This record gives sequence, structure tokens and C-alpha cells, in this order.
Amino acid sequence: MTAKSLFTHRFEPGDRTGAPPLLLLHGTGGDENDLLQLGAMISPGSPLLSPRGRVLENGMPRFFRRLAEGVFDEEDVRYRALELGEFVQDARERYGIDAPLAVGYSNGANIAAALLMMNPRALSGAILLRAMVPLTDPPEANLDGKPVLILSGRQDPIVPADNADALASMLSRTGAKVDHRILPVGHQLSQADVALTGRWLAEATQHTTAS
Ligand code: MLT
Repeated sequence: MTAKSLFTHRFEPGDRTGAPPLLLLHGTGGDENDLLQLGAMISPGSPLLSPRGRVLENGMPRFFRRLAEGVFDEEDVRYRALELGEFVQDARERYGIDAPLAVGYSNGANIAAALLMMNPRALSGAILLRAMVPLTDPPEANLDGKPVLILSGRQDPIVPADNADALASMLSRTGAKVDHRILPVGHQLSQADVALTGRWLAEATQHTTAS
């Protein structure tokens, strides 16, 4: 492992042939344990790779620095996205898994979106739960049909609706196959997120395996 790969993390190997590996990315104040249960629910038997964010905000782990709520230190976003990409590459070699599909919540969704744009080859796709635009001026990327599901909350006090729309447009312009849905919920995850995510993943993976 390289210095860039010193993310505290958990890896669950999975036991279903063909199940897509998932990269689980928690929200602010979470850790590597947070989304393991969600990962197992939405894709039973998938290998699960779950790192802890390396940035601390008042003791709370995050995946990049922010200047205020919703105001990001974009230089740090870029650096951290590339660092996470290196971790994923090392973990793939170490654990023998294919490029994972990211499942990120809140801050984890934002770093997943940044990683898609900074290093598209690191991920096979992404599920972005309550995500917003992480980079105002991202590099030109070619996402080449990668499946991306964005689930936003209509009553989310943290993510303005037009910001989530802008993220969906930005990713569509890069060639990603974006499905953006708006749920009648706030920032917290709901049962609807779990159900929709599971269904979308089963379909997206079927298409990937078929193509
Ligand atoms: C972020 O900082 O990434 C977003 O504001 C979401 C959050 O972590 O609250």
C-alpha cells in the first residue's frame, strides 16, 4: 500500500458471483461502519469497500474540507478525490475486485461525484444520495455511459434543488447515463432510498453484465 492508501477502511469480500463491488462513502461525522448494512441490503453478496474520510471537522470525519456548509474548498476536493482514486486502485489490487460502483451519502456522495469527474476510470458508476455539485469548474471527463443514480430530497435543507439539478446536468454532459429522482423527504435517508436504490442497482448491473 502506498502512503495515499492509508485510509482506515473495512472490506467485506462478498459471496455472490457477478455481484458488483460497492465503494461505500459515509456522510459527515460517519465512519467506515455506517453504510455496510445499506450496501448489504441493496446488493446482497456484493464485495463492500468502505473507507473512512481522512479530513476532520471538529472531530467529525469527512472526505474533503469545506469553508462553510455547502461551500467547499475545491482545491482540497480535487486533491482528496485523486487520493481516494488511488486508494480504490490499491484496494482493487489487494482484494482482487473490479472497479466498484460508489454508493455515497451526503459528503460521501459529493466526493463520489468529484471522483467520477476527476478519475472516471476509478468507478463503474455511482449512487449519489443527497449530492450537490462538488466542483464548479471540473475537468473535462468522459463518463462513457456509466450509470449514475441521484436521489434528492424535495425538503432537503442542505442541498438546494437547483444545485442537485446542476449536478445531474453536469454529469449528463460528460456522457454518464444519469437517472435523477426527487423524493418527498429531507436530507436523511429513507426507506424509499433503500428500495429505489436496490431496484436501480439490480437493473443497472444487469445491463452492464449484458453489454
Ligand atoms: C458537504 O459538506 O459535503 C455537504 O454540505 C453535505 C454535508 O456533509 O453536510
